[in-house]
Amino acid sequence: MIKEISVIGGGTMGNGIATVFALNNFSVNLVEMEKEKIDRALSAITTNFNRMVKKGTIAQEQLNESLCRVKPLIGVENTPISSDLVIEAIYENKSAKISIFKELQSSIKPDCIFASNTSSISITELATSCRPDNFIGMHFMNPVPIMKLVEIIRGFSTSDNTYTEIHNLALAIGKTPTEVNDYPGFISNRILMPMINEAIFALMENVAKTEDIDTVMKLGMNHPMGPLTLADFIGLDVCLAIMEVLYEGYNDSKYRPCPLLKKMVAAGKLGRKSGEGFYKY
Ligand code: NAI
Repeated sequence: MIKEISVIGGGTMGNGIATVFALNNFSVNLVEMEKEKIDRALSAITTNFNRMVKKGTIAQEQLNESLCRVKPLIGVENTPISSDLVIEAIYENKSAKISIFKELQSSIKPDCIFASNTSSISITELATSCRPDNFIGMHFMNPVPIMKLVEIIRGFSTSDNTYTEIHNLALAIGKTPTEVNDYPGFISNRILMPMINEAIFALMENVAKTEDIDTVMKLGMNHPMGPLTLADFIGLDVCLAIMEVLYEGYNDSKYRPCPLLKKMVAAGKLGRKSGEGFYKY
């Protein structure tokens, strides 16, 4: 039975994941690298809760109780041994993720389930750093408090028991789980990211302006937001990392990352989180 959850990384996704679990009565340890980052994560969580109070989704007392369920921690080595589930949500880098799982598997109780929120890195490969049967992909969508989907990815050796626990957990926090096998990009990013990348190619080739590309997809295809707005929202560094995983994983030129995407990441124009991407914030 999963009761205590440790979320590693309190950025865009990590603070959203912590919000949702705390709201649903789970004890959450939120682990960051340094004080400034954990403070920022806690303030994002408070903003999420305040928004819910304003909308009338939760009462003020529920906000206070939920906040009390989030324990901020600095340093992966301080992740409590009693954790039933670890959800890793650090930046999209395979070796950084593997080193966290290696460190944790020797310090946490052996039946702990390890999950990664990776957008595209092979769950099977990440699983080699711990007990592979206890390892799974738990891919939340951004913004986590709003989006219903959790893509649950079975690695090569993920056990049925681990899958069922995580499937039921997703239901317990009001999400809709989907079962996916481990291939680069899973389902969501295998289909979404090439579309975003193609929109960036269209911009680079001056087929149309940023706003016009977004308008075509919004009004013409009924998408809630255009692909360039969405790229800014996801983070251009995250988009590039996913395209690189697809390109490498399938060895197919149709997944080559657009040079303009690479250039913008190199220039530090990462979208909303850096204040500028395809739009200014
Ligand atoms: P982010 O850059 O906003 O946050 C990452 C956080 O991890 C940072 O706050 C950083 O300080 C922290 N971190 C890095 N190393 C750490 C360590 N050793 N110990 C503790 N904390 C550490 O990244 P974001 O966007 O939240 O992405 C996280 C993961 O979620 C990535 O794997 C990404 O691919 C995936 N993802 C991202 C989505 C998005 O829309 N941004 C959507 C779905 C999945």
